[in-house]
Amino acid sequence: MKDFLLFSGSSNVPLAQKIAKLLHTTLGNVDLSRFADSEIRPWIQEDVRDKTVFVLESLAYPMDEHVMELSLMGDAIRRSAPKNMIAVIPYMGYARQDKQHRVGEPVSARVIAKFIEVSKFKEVITVDLHNDAIVGFFQIPVSHVSALDVLTVEIKKLSLARPVIVSPDVGGVKRARNLAYALDVPMVVMEKKRFLDRHDTSESFQIIGEVRGMDAVIVDDVISTGGTIANSAQSLKDAGTKSVTVLASHAVFAGEAVKKLSAAPIDTLTVTDTIRLPKEKLFPKLHIVSVAPLIADAIQMLIK
Ligand code: R5P
Repeated sequence: MKDFLLFSGSSNVPLAQKIAKLLHTTLGNVDLSRFADSEIRPWIQEDVRDKTVFVLESLAYPMDEHVMELSLMGDAIRRSAPKNMIAVIPYMGYARQDKQHRVGEPVSARVIAKFIEVSKFKEVITVDLHNDAIVGFFQIPVSHVSALDVLTVEIKKLSLARPVIVSPDVGGVKRARNLAYALDVPMVVMEKKRFLDRHDTSESFQIIGEVRGMDAVIVDDVISTGGTIANSAQSLKDAGTKSVTVLASHAVFAGEAVKKLSAAPIDTLTVTDTIRLPKEKLFPKLHIVSVAPLIADAIQMLIK
């Protein structure tokens, strides 16, 4: 194995530590202090010359700070002549803004991709982008890792009698179809309506397919306010499902999400650790599985 270093920004140190352990190393030393006016001042305290350097930063809340921290760490490292510099982004915030929904709006996901390139990262490792096409926003290579395998293991453990995979919206059909294929079970799609004039608000409408008496497994990429999942779970229950299980890659859990999800007719909800959840966002039916082995494998592919 060649010489490499793994640094972590402040967003998800526990995940970075797990990855470091799997790679039989420890995290590189970096001092992430701030000036009195809140400017970030990273100080890399390792010799990075001629090494392959990985920097892990989940672009989760507060995403703007984490984008800036990642960019500044990148700039600090590239000034000391590393051999290669790779951004490890378990959750790419802004990915849901992958198109112009209205004239006058930015394509924010593309702007984030440019930020990463401007900071001189030469490659990116990321997990379950909201839309596969976002890979094309980068001009540098992207290793796009899927958490579906670790989530599939969890669903198998439940030994559900009559599983049916549910995509909570049309945009998630490909993800749901992949899971349905992997488990060799049927899938259905729900129709979701979003309101452009009301942020973070959605309604679940009709279910396209049969769910009565079945064990619904909703699969989604991101849970933000929890509205999509809570509404879908309620609609599925109203349509006569026996149980509702939820699988999601990224637990953003913004605003009242924990309250909504706890109250929703959900039996179990499994997410990954791409985003670090504070204690107050944990609740009894929530299970967290780690993407550390997937990311460690992706890193290993780039250093062997
Ligand atoms: C939307 O297209 C995504 O796949 C998720 O369904 C959505 O971002 C979830 O947002 P919320 O939890 O706020 O309903």
